[in-house]
Amino acid sequence: MRTLSAVVVTLALGAPVLSQTHQPGQLEAPQAQQTAASSVQAPPAQPQGPPQGPGPGSGMGHGMGHGKGGAMDAQHQADMELFHYLGDHGREITRAIKVLPDGVETVTESDNPEVASRIQAHVLSMAARVKEQRPIHRRDPLFAEVFAHADKIEMRHENTPKGVKVVETSGDPYVVRLIQAHAEVVSLFITHGRQEMMKNHEVPARPAAQ
Ligand code: HEM
Repeated sequence: MRTLSAVVVTLALGAPVLSQTHQPGQLEAPQAQQTAASSVQAPPAQPQGPPQGPGPGSGMGHGMGHGKGGAMDAQHQADMELFHYLGDHGREITRAIKVLPDGVETVTESDNPEVASRIQAHVLSMAARVKEQRPIHRRDPLFAEVFAHADKIEMRHENTPKGVKVVETSGDPYVVRLIQAHAEVVSLFITHGRQEMMKNHEVPARPAAQ
C-alpha cells in the first residue's frame, strides 16, 4: 500500500489520521505513528500578496482552464486566485486526514475566519468541478487523472465552524487511490504553498487486481 507522507499524529477519531497543524513559527513534530511518515520541514515564509477575492467578476481564465470540450472555463481565474490565497496562508491552516477503506475523510480548518471561509469556498467550487466534470490544473498528471475519473468520485462536504469536513469515496479501488493521493497533495500545498502548486505529482499505481 502506498504510504502517505505527512506529519502524522493521532487524533481521537479511532482511526488512522494524518494531521498537519501549522502555527506561525512552530515546527511540526511527528508524534504517534500510524503509517510510515516522512518528516515535514518547516516551509519558508510564503510571499503574502494582497488578498484576492474569489467572488464572481474576477475575470476569465488564461489558457489553463479548458473544460471538457475545450471551452474556456469562466470560473478558472477565480479558482486560481483562491488556490494562491490558500497556499499563501498555509501556516494558518490545520488539516486532518482519516484514511477510509474507500477514500478519505478530511477536516481542513483555520482560526482565521477569512481563511476558513476561503477554504469553504474552495471546496464548494471543487466539489462542483468534480460533480460536473469540469477539470482544472490538468497540467499536473495527478489532477488530470482525478478528473478523468470524476464520474466515480463521491464527494460530500459540510462546513464546520472553522472550515470544512469532506468525505470522498469511490467504489473503484484505483479511484480510491487517486482520492487518497490527492488528499496528500492538498496537505503538501498547505505545507509548501505556491512552490508545491508548480510541481507535478505522481499518479498512484493501479491495484494489482485491476
Ligand atoms: C493550501 C491550498 C489548498 C487547500 C487548503 C485545499 C483544500 C482542499 C480541500 C479541503 C479539498 C477537499 C478534498 C480533501 O480534503 O482532500 C480540496 C479539493 C480539491 N482541491 Fe484543493 N486545496 C488547496 C489547493 C489546491 C490547488 C493548488 C489545487 C489545484 C491547482 C486544488 C484543487 C483541488 C481539486 C481539483 C479538488 C477536488 C478533487 C478532489 O478532492 O479529489 N486545491 N482542496
